[in-house]
Amino acid sequence: MSLTTERAGIDQITGNARDAIGAGVLPEPGTDRNVVISLRDLNVHYGRFHAVGDVNLDIPRNRITAFIGPSGCGKSTVLRSINRMNDLVPTAKVDGTIWYHDRNINGRDIDPVMVRRRIGMVFQKPNPFPKSIAENILWGAKINGFTGNKAELVESCLRRAALWDEVKDKLDASGLALSGGQQQRLCIARALANNPDVILMDEPASALDPISTLKIEDLMRELARNFTIVIVTHNMQQAARVSDQTCFFSLNEQRMGFMVEASPTTELFTNPKDRRTEDYITGRFG
Ligand SMILES: Nc1ncnc2c1ncn2[C@@H]1O[C@H](COP(=O)(O)OP(=O)(O)OP(=O)(O)O)[C@@H](O)[C@H]1O
Ligand SMILES: [Mg+2]
Repeated sequence: MSLTTERAGIDQITGNARDAIGAGVLPEPGTDRNVVISLRDLNVHYGRFHAVGDVNLDIPRNRITAFIGPSGCGKSTVLRSINRMNDLVPTAKVDGTIWYHDRNINGRDIDPVMVRRRIGMVFQKPNPFPKSIAENILWGAKINGFTGNKAELVESCLRRAALWDEVKDKLDASGLALSGGQQQRLCIARALANNPDVILMDEPASALDPISTLKIEDLMRELARNFTIVIVTHNMQQAARVSDQTCFFSLNEQRMGFMVEASPTTELFTNPKDRRTEDYITGRFG
């Protein structure tokens, strides 16, 4: 699949025109484009520290993109830029453009809360709210003024997160009373309740045992049928197992992170384009 074809039409529009088109509104999830997110010349500074330099990347729809690379190379920083979570870091400054479909997510009129609804996030450490399982799911829906059937929403999100069978008899129990793997699936279910288009996952299985890890991986494959997923992982086998596209990030002498290559996953692990990728995946570096 070409990652760039879909951009061609969009790139003919100037940045200003695109800002105007994007005034305040984000496209509905599932808008039929092959590329959901495009990073163009993404640079992130924390104060004077240049943490990430010149990342250009297309994230294809209904696919899993994995970020790999040594600690500190900026994987989480890039991920957080995609849904404006870096707005919450006072010293962070994000330059370049992040296109969500044809909208610049940092555009003047774009509401970051709306961005985070469309582009949800699941963190390394499961972080359910100290509330019941059902309330965890309904939390975002309540804020967003959901008026539909709450019981149906809870069930459908828990089913899609492959947790329903394990919790259907204890929906009023605390989310914190679940196992780590169940808590992580609850967090995924909670993200789904916001009707997202994209789900960002920062090392979602690194705190889990191997069985729970495989469950999360199976779930990711299932979710990729309807969502676009970006996952950061330190586990190269995991990237190879679950992702369709893998991006390898590295660090320069100033400890600035940059993307070395983004390739179809099988290609990156069997026939990497760049010598530095080969050194990393064969364990000669990092
Ligand atoms: N809030 C922050 N303030 C200042 N510097 C930060 C902040 N967050 C990250 N950094 C720095 O930015 C660089 C990239 O960090 P980031 O967390 O994105 O790396 P990473 O690739 O996710 O690493 P890891 O694999 O260890 O999670 C690092 O040098 C880090 O110290
Ligand atoms: Mg990280």
